[in-house]
Order: sequence, then structure tokens, then C-alpha cells
Amino acid sequence: MKTRIHVIAPLVLAALAAAGSAQAQVGQAGRLLASNCFQCHGTNGKGGFDAINGKSVGEIYTKLKEFQAGKEGDGIMAKHALGYTDAQMVALDKWLSTQR
Ligand code: HEC
Repeated sequence: MKTRIHVIAPLVLAALAAAGSAQAQVGQAGRLLASNCFQCHGTNGKGGFDAINGKSVGEIYTKLKEFQAGKEGDGIMAKHALGYTDAQMVALDKWLSTQR
């Protein structure tokens, strides 16, 4: 029985480490993508046009989907939002939500 735990424990640790680094990768991807927003929305999403930092998870994603669908007119954001995949918008949303 002890041997089994010795075999399983490293596997669990490896799985946790992989999950942790996947999380970190989403964070980095989100930060890199969000640098596309800073020119207009300020560094880290504040200090420019509408603040986009520190929202609840899902808010920015939903807004971007609305911009993509043309529900918010055909302003600059409608054009800008078209450049992102769903996964990229999720990464943006998550990263921006962590910014204060
Ligand atoms: C070239 C300037 C520009 C860039 C770059 C830009 N935005 Fe915007 N954004 C605006 C302007 C102007 C508005 C307000 C007018 C509007 O809604 O179109 C806005 C509005 C928004 C809103 C709506 C906010 C609210 O409270 O309703 C969100 C969300 C948003 N932008 C997200 C982003 C994200 C995320 C990025 C980067 C991926 C980004 N924007 C890049 C100019 C920009």
C-alpha cells in the first residue's frame, strides 16, 4: 500500500504543477494581449477611456463578444474586438480582472 502512495504522489504533484503552469501561461498571454488595450484604456486598464481593470470575471469577455457582434455600434471597439479569438478574450478577461 505504501508503495502505491509513493508512486501516486509524484504523479499528483506533477499534475498540480502542470495545472499551475497552465494558469501562469493564461496570465502571461492575457497580459501580453492586454498591452494592446493600454494605449487607449491606460496602463493595466485604467487611466484612459473607460476603465477595464478589476471587473468581475466574465464582464470584459461579455463586452468584447457584444462589440464583435455589432451590438455596441461600429465604433473603434467593434473593429478592435474582431481581432481576438474566444480563448484570447478569456485570457484578456481573466488577466484584466486581476488588475487594481
Ligand atoms: C484605439 C483605442 C482603443 C483600444 C486599442 C482599445 N479600446 Fe476599448 N474602448 C475604446 C473606447 C473609445 C471605448 C468607449 C467607446 C466605445 O464603447 O466604443 C472603449 C470601450 C471599451 C469597453 C466598454 C467599457 C464599458 O464600461 O462599457 C471595453 C470592455 C473595452 N473597451 C475593452 C477593451 C479591451 C479588452 C481592449 C484590448 C484588447 C481595448 N478595449 C482596446 C478604445 C479602445
